[in-house]
Amino acid sequence: MSDAAVSDTAFVRVCRLEELPPVGAAAADIGGRVISIVRTSDGEVYAVDDTCSHAEVSLSEGEVDGCEIECWLHGSRFDLCTGRPSGPPATVPITTHHVKIEGDEVYVALTDQN
Ligand code: FES
Repeated sequence: MSDAAVSDTAFVRVCRLEELPPVGAAAADIGGRVISIVRTSDGEVYAVDDTCSHAEVSLSEGEVDGCEIECWLHGSRFDLCTGRPSGPPATVPITTHHVKIEGDEVYVALTDQN
């Protein structure tokens, strides 16, 4: 999720772009909350809560396909823009967060802490 209206002070540096897989996800800890930082095949970067809403495993260990991430355990898919489940068995959305790229640095602002 990208949002120019978010205060700059809300953003926390999480990693460099080169630390992300070309297509895939990496987990980052922001104040004790684990976030999945996801790069898609078109080069977009998204941030979502790392915990699958189905059975609480790490989504950053899953596969990225288009604008979706697929949980490795039971195959639920989540839209990276909205957090909504786009494939079963999950029915509960995951939270998406704001992303800002400056140079090769990735910054995230937690959506529900602004
Ligand atoms: S734990 Fe993610 S789909 Fe079941």
